[in-house]
Amino acid sequence: MGLTSAKPNLGLYIHWPYCARICPYCDFNVVRARGRVDEEAALVDAIAADMVAQAALIGPRTLVSIFFGGGTPSLMAPEAVARLIATARALWPGEGPVEVSLEANPTDVETDRFAAFRDAGVERLSLGVQAFDDMALTFLGRAHTAAETAHAVETAARTFPRLSLDLIYALPGQDAAAWTETLKRAAGAGAEHISPYQLTIEAGTPFDRAVRRGRFAPADEDRGALLYETTQSVLEGLGFHAYEVSNHARGQGARARHNLVYWRGEDYVGVGPGAHGRLTRPDGVRLATEAASRIAAYIGGAGQINMGTHVTEMSRQDRAEERVLMGLRTDEGVALSDLEPLPLAAFDSLVESGHLSIGQGRLVATPAGRLVLDHLVQRLILG
Ligand SMILES: C[S@@+](CC[C@H](N)C(=O)[O-])C[C@H]1O[C@@H](n2cnc3c(N)ncnc32)[C@H](O)[C@@H]1O
Ligand code: SF4
Repeated sequence: MGLTSAKPNLGLYIHWPYCARICPYCDFNVVRARGRVDEEAALVDAIAADMVAQAALIGPRTLVSIFFGGGTPSLMAPEAVARLIATARALWPGEGPVEVSLEANPTDVETDRFAAFRDAGVERLSLGVQAFDDMALTFLGRAHTAAETAHAVETAARTFPRLSLDLIYALPGQDAAAWTETLKRAAGAGAEHISPYQLTIEAGTPFDRAVRRGRFAPADEDRGALLYETTQSVLEGLGFHAYEVSNHARGQGARARHNLVYWRGEDYVGVGPGAHGRLTRPDGVRLATEAASRIAAYIGGAGQINMGTHVTEMSRQDRAEERVLMGLRTDEGVALSDLEPLPLAAFDSLVESGHLSIGQGRLVATPAGRLVLDHLVQRLILG
């Protein structure tokens, strides 16, 4: 919660589930966009109604961020983006800065609309570049060529005050030298923020089947760790600080305010099919919300809590576990006072082994700790 302001801080996540093509590694809640014009219009109405319904669960708030994520929100009509921004501003009026981000894919069709998104009020573009060469993009099943990618990056850097680039690493055969070149190219492209993700083979995806059939092998632990360490040292050397496991920013102001909402345990409203949210009721009870994931079900139930959106109350234990999971990902760490219900004995041994540090009432994962974060979290939660 934002204790510096009288009204607690709030983020808003808007999920747009359509993609032009479904990438073979992706397990997000997405469907192929095939001219579903009526459905898309109904979805925008449903998202607006859901925002109103969820706002009624909480007291007055200071809106700090709006994030259009997906799926592919750069396929949205810019007028719909403008309308949802206006709805949010009306529900949570205020004078302070509101970071407005939108995730985009770098195809020519979408690049042609960047100016319209800027006019609609988007100030920060998160561009899913993933790679800069055609071989890697083809392997990843992406719908954009290297030339389109370069054009999108240039246009985005000119159009938006703030630009973030997503990359995927640990592709088959990719060594530290090749990955370093990709990182340098991203760092020199005018972005203030870079999010490199190691390729994860998600169960049930085409990549999962390809790996099981022996078509390619994912990076083993050693190569994954080497490329992760390469990421840290190359980006740090280029002025991009790793303020979170997979997020690097050139300066304090380049940090993603929206992601900080998640990592600091602040509240956020999640709207759109399958979106999650965390809301603290005026009586102090923290709620976990989860919207219906099927588009038709979401449209049918939106605006009606417990029909469109499922709400559960979180226990103190749930809250503390989530604080560990989220807080240890960042260089801010987590306040010890948030962790009270957890077995504290594990903390000391992990401090002694150099994986955690404690200072000013906060627990922070060291660089060595961040490398084995899943293990740390297990130990802290289970004792
Ligand atoms: C859900 S996508 C949405 C953004 C946009 N549709 C795109 O594809 O660029 C957000 C980011 O998650 C990352 N991502 C998704 N699936 C992944 C996977 N299996 N392994 C690694 N990164 C993944 C990609 O870098 C992607 O840019
Ligand atoms: S475009 Fe993005 S969200 Fe859509 S399938 Fe590909 S990775 Fe997933």
